[in-house]
Amino acid sequence: MDLATELRLLEERARAQIIELKTSSALQEVRVQILGKKGQLTSVLRGMGGLAAEERPRVGQLANEIRDKIEAALDARGKVLDEAGLEARLAGEQFDVTLPGTPVAVGYQHPLTRIAEEITDIFLGMGFSVAEGPEVETDYYNFEALNLPKEHPARDMQDTFYVINDLVLRTQTSPVQIRTMERLSPLVPVRIISPGKVYRRDDDATHSPMFQQVEGLVIDKGISLGHLKSTLLAFARQMFGTEREIRLRASYFPFTEPSAEVDVSCGTCGGSGCRVCKGTGWIEILGCGVVHPNVLRLSGYDPEEVSGFAFGMGIERIAMLKYGVEDLRHFFINDYRFLRQF
Ligand code: DAH
Repeated sequence: MDLATELRLLEERARAQIIELKTSSALQEVRVQILGKKGQLTSVLRGMGGLAAEERPRVGQLANEIRDKIEAALDARGKVLDEAGLEARLAGEQFDVTLPGTPVAVGYQHPLTRIAEEITDIFLGMGFSVAEGPEVETDYYNFEALNLPKEHPARDMQDTFYVINDLVLRTQTSPVQIRTMERLSPLVPVRIISPGKVYRRDDDATHSPMFQQVEGLVIDKGISLGHLKSTLLAFARQMFGTEREIRLRASYFPFTEPSAEVDVSCGTCGGSGCRVCKGTGWIEILGCGVVHPNVLRLSGYDPEEVSGFAFGMGIERIAMLKYGVEDLRHFFINDYRFLRQF
């Protein structure tokens, strides 16, 4: 039998075999048996050595054609088997629709957002509304209109980032007081809070170059220090617990007179003194005071007609107290192990 006949026979047998194949793995085996390095085709082609030189190209070309045809037949059969296999699997598959699904991790609020909203809610409940102001602020609103002229030494406590000339990143939410008074004067009552970000050149365990405050401002006829104290007591009890007390310590802010710092009684020891309150029984939570007549006048109110009180608290500080967090920077590192606890 000559080589060409042998090749044709090989093709015929291969086709017969391929058409009978039932599984993809059997098909894989047959592919190797026929076309593999040590397969049937290779072994037939060993006979090429005995051919006359002019015969070789013709037989070589025939061998290539036959290899291609067998490969095509294998591929076609493979496709049929794959489709049949999928159908069989789908027909046999059963779904238990009552099995629980894969849980999806649900996000939640950042603890500082939570606290800011809690503070806001408490004051909304007392009849305040929310006012907002820009974070890039003019020197005038951030300092001067708050009774802090250019060379005032109290500016040192609030060293900040100057953007250009008289534009600063605001050091406090207090400029929103001025913006609100300018907008509303001479109308009363004014009753606003203003939560937002502020910036200072500070960075340690209890200070961050960016932090958040909530400002408060009330202006009306006959507002006194008594209104301030009762408002802040109501706030402290809703925020920290009904058993809490507050005390006012005389302090200084340029935009209030008199000014005070407010402490809340320590929740850990109940006021008897412990490590958390450094033995004093009290923890500082905010600054406040009676609005300075200069500030009222500059913003369009007559200090003979109306008076007001104002306060400002740090949101991070309130959150640290409420949750017992000892390092402010935890809030900003975005470590999920920390954040997920709230
Ligand atoms: N702005 C002050 C600060 O950042 C806090 C403050 C004190 C706000 C007294 C007030 C206030 O409205 O009356 O330190």
